[in-house]
Amino acid sequence: MNAGKRGALIIFEGCDRSGKSTQSQLLVALLNSKGIPALPMNFPERSSIIGQVINSYLTNSKDLPDEVIHLMFSTNRWEHMNYIKQNLHEGRTVVVDRYSFSGVAYSAAKGLDFDWCYAPERGLIKPDAVFYLRAPPADLTNRTQYGEERYEKVEFQGRVAKVFDRICSEQGSYWHQFDATKPVEDLHAQIASITEELLPKVGTQPLEMLS
Ligand code: TYD
Ligand code: MG
Repeated sequence: MNAGKRGALIIFEGCDRSGKSTQSQLLVALLNSKGIPALPMNFPERSSIIGQVINSYLTNSKDLPDEVIHLMFSTNRWEHMNYIKQNLHEGRTVVVDRYSFSGVAYSAAKGLDFDWCYAPERGLIKPDAVFYLRAPPADLTNRTQYGEERYEKVEFQGRVAKVFDRICSEQGSYWHQFDATKPVEDLHAQIASITEELLPKVGTQPLEMLS
């Protein structure tokens, strides 16, 4: 193991069906195949009690006020912070499918105030890199299983994409934007090369918080 070095927190963001799950799984598999400890995570993390409520909301079996579900998504991240922190400090890279930025993008797309949405995310661990898989939502509707969950409607996804674009331009250099319509292998190669450059750099850097 890389003694004393922490792992990196790597996030995938983007609209539904943009390929985040595929790319995050490929990245974890690649790192592990090279002997670099890495583990996958996914928000919402649906197995906790809060995660189960989120799941019933997303599968349309439960209705909640927009503010309430927003804070539950955020709480679901907070309840896993110690777990993530511990893994990073033990030298594991944590690759996460969605994070705070999905929280803001989906809720702001419903009309909630952007700054109000971002406030509960402050203090969470700041990612070392965000890989933003960007595509016009209309190009993603023919992908498998599209439309099964609450938010999977093109018009709504278009508004989500606009908020992601805003966050990407505001957050700056640790965001990496990709054309999600490119072939899986091309995207993977680009993502792998950025990650391999990143890992040795962050190993000795202290963790920061979202501010
Ligand atoms: P998704 O990534 O599709 O979950 P899974 O991989 O388990 O299928 O996330 C489910 C939905 O939740 C998706 O439409 C985005 C939405 N979401 C929010 O609205 N806020 C959040 O904070 C997160 C993490 C996701
Ligand atoms: Mg989904």
